[in-house]
Amino acid sequence: PMPAPRITVVGTGYLGATHAICMAIMGFEVLGADIDPNKIELLRDGRVPFFEPGLPEKLGQALASGRLRFTTDFDEVAHFGDVHFLCVGTPQAAGSGAADLGYVEAAFTTLAARIARRALLVGKSTVPIGTAARLTRMIREISPIGSELELAWNPEFLREGFAVQDTLHPDRLVFGVESEWAESQLRAVYAPILGTGTPLIVADLATSELVKVAANSFLATKISFINAMAEVCEATGADVSLLAQALSLDDRIGRRFLQPGLGFGGGCLPKDIRAFRHRAEELGVGQAVSFLGEVDAINNRRRVRTVDLIRELAGGNLAGVRVAALGAAFKPNSDDVRDAPALDVARLLYLEGAVVTVYDPEANANAHRLYPDLNYAGSMAEAVAQADVVALLTEWEEFRQADPDYLAGLVRQRLIVDGRHALDASDYTSKGWEYRALGHPYQARTVPLLEDARDSAAGDPA
Ligand code: UDX
Repeated sequence: PMPAPRITVVGTGYLGATHAICMAIMGFEVLGADIDPNKIELLRDGRVPFFEPGLPEKLGQALASGRLRFTTDFDEVAHFGDVHFLCVGTPQAAGSGAADLGYVEAAFTTLAARIARRALLVGKSTVPIGTAARLTRMIREISPIGSELELAWNPEFLREGFAVQDTLHPDRLVFGVESEWAESQLRAVYAPILGTGTPLIVADLATSELVKVAANSFLATKISFINAMAEVCEATGADVSLLAQALSLDDRIGRRFLQPGLGFGGGCLPKDIRAFRHRAEELGVGQAVSFLGEVDAINNRRRVRTVDLIRELAGGNLAGVRVAALGAAFKPNSDDVRDAPALDVARLLYLEGAVVTVYDPEANANAHRLYPDLNYAGSMAEAVAQADVVALLTEWEEFRQADPDYLAGLVRQRLIVDGRHALDASDYTSKGWEYRALGHPYQARTVPLLEDARDSAAGDPA
């Protein structure tokens, strides 16, 4: 039998660190690499440079097994690996929706120039369609071994907060390959996962790139769909929570990603749909995905409308109003504040003169780095002390479990905006709180009668 391939993972951010650790846990010899010596130092020390439940324990196990090492030396990487996974970031380019491919190109060319024996470069980053084909041409020109160096694409679908589980037990694997040899190498690397019956799709490079952005576009669309329905609820006094519940009982629709509220954020969904639109325009099929512009706009409106709701509850003016902002991360069980709806709301409140105190169980440090002008509290109790309005912006378990009576004893006024539909509204109202949530029927403005609509149309001079 073929000896197990030796694996390298280039880029030890969220995706790469998790992948390297899990591959070592699965029994492979793994070398992780990064250009950032600080990250490498931390990982060698057994410390994960970001918050991810369960990952520190797995890193400890992997290091103890002797199968996982880390380096900043790319000659060593080139020499060591049979299969090289490239897991570097593709951030949104400054001033446009396009993806910045600088890190990806640097990683591929750095390795291609150094690899001197047959090997497979596997891209895992989320990239615009056509990137893998372009990288193939690039590495062919650089590589001293020519076509002995091959390229494949293998998109990653892991969610923050569930990174270990999603990596070891994915819903599916997708291989974008151009040769049987590339496919056989990937099959060898994923043998432990394929062995448990995980579905595999073997595709061309373009399809494998598209799967990732299509999946994220679908998820973003689902969230914006229910949030668009929340807007309609706000105009009619209907209840978006009940609506979501009723819709989700149709199993063609399904219950997941139908949670209304502040909308999506993070390092993937927002930037991926923008980059996809940008790439589709370049490909001449912009019209096919122009709806993603609406998906983005609906999502951004949630932030503005949440601020409107807080202002309304505060009596129409935010100047000097003390707001306790509960949550900063883009979702619970994460310390990631990239494009976080919660922090965006906090920032907008601050710009209107509110005195904002943020508390997040894990993301305070990252939030502080981004917005040093906001106040940060070390606990929920400290954040809500003497608050005029409490705003729940990220649905951490700690906030969902909070006792309305306990909070009532700390605040100046019992006013709460539930930006995530995460609290029991009747529990709060029965304990004397004014509870507000977007798309929740408290706002029950009277639905305009058909006659009214006709009257105003008749009175319209046009
Ligand atoms: C996402 C994809 O789920 C994952 O497959 C892909 O690989 C990377 O992008 P992640 O960014 O970790 O993962 O977050 P996810 O759990 O998908 O949540 C995204 C955002 O949507 C969060 O801000 C969350 O609060 C929001 N969301 C999610 C809703 O507002 N409503 C929902 O019903 C679900």
